[in-house]
Amino acid sequence: TRPFQVAIDGPAASGKSTTAKMVAQRLGFDYIDTGAFYRCVTLAALSKGIDPSNQTQASQISNLAQSSHIGLNTVFSSSPSSLPTTRVFLDKKDVSSEIRTGTVSKHVSAVAAIGPVREAVLQKVRDMGATSTSHEGNSGRAGLVMDGRDIGTVVLPNADLKIFLVADSRVRAERRLQELAKSGSKEEGSDVETVQKDLERRDELDRTREASPLRKADDAVELDTSHLTIEGQVDAIVQEVHRRQ
Ligand code: C5P
Repeated sequence: TRPFQVAIDGPAASGKSTTAKMVAQRLGFDYIDTGAFYRCVTLAALSKGIDPSNQTQASQISNLAQSSHIGLNTVFSSSPSSLPTTRVFLDKKDVSSEIRTGTVSKHVSAVAAIGPVREAVLQKVRDMGATSTSHEGNSGRAGLVMDGRDIGTVVLPNADLKIFLVADSRVRAERRLQELAKSGSKEEGSDVETVQKDLERRDELDRTREASPLRKADDAVELDTSHLTIEGQVDAIVQEVHRRQ
């Protein structure tokens, strides 16, 4: 039997990655952050002086997406309440903080809207998913949690559990600001209105793009986290996994 697959999708700053990491830690599953792949391609383009919003550069960016080597390494903690950390590597270089800067966040949705970029990322993400949970793979963990925008609809259409996280955009902006303050990076714009507008703009791009837009899969469970604590949403998902295992 194949490993249990959990797909977590939702708009920007809906708590996907924190939730997904904690669910993976509680269940002993592997975790793959697919947004990190699009962020790496964006960073690769920016560092080559390519303007991601210039449509004539799309094929150059697609080539970069194909040729870049992207690696993830998630370190789980033995204490269930502490957050696992994921390091992201682009062509062997640790870019974990660089891919979270405001500049990358600002351009990433334009990059993620390029069809051939999505095909290249899809291939990499599926390969990683296949090795991370196979017994010959590095970790041999019992299951896989993946988060992004199109996991339930495109990447893992047969996932055993699909979660669609939603939250009020104001609440999401406040959470994102807290996260930025904690990580010491303030580049994204330090007031809540600016962050909220940026999130809404990114969601709009993600929802209306032609190539695998952000949408809830028909068989996904919608979870509104506006009034839930992180522990509450993790518990809800872990219980749902146990029910289906
Ligand atoms: O999740 P994160 O905010 O890091 O994702 C960055 C961007 O990557 C999203 O705004 C979206 O445009 C894109 N993305 C995507 N499909 C995914 C994951 C992320 O289009 N599966």
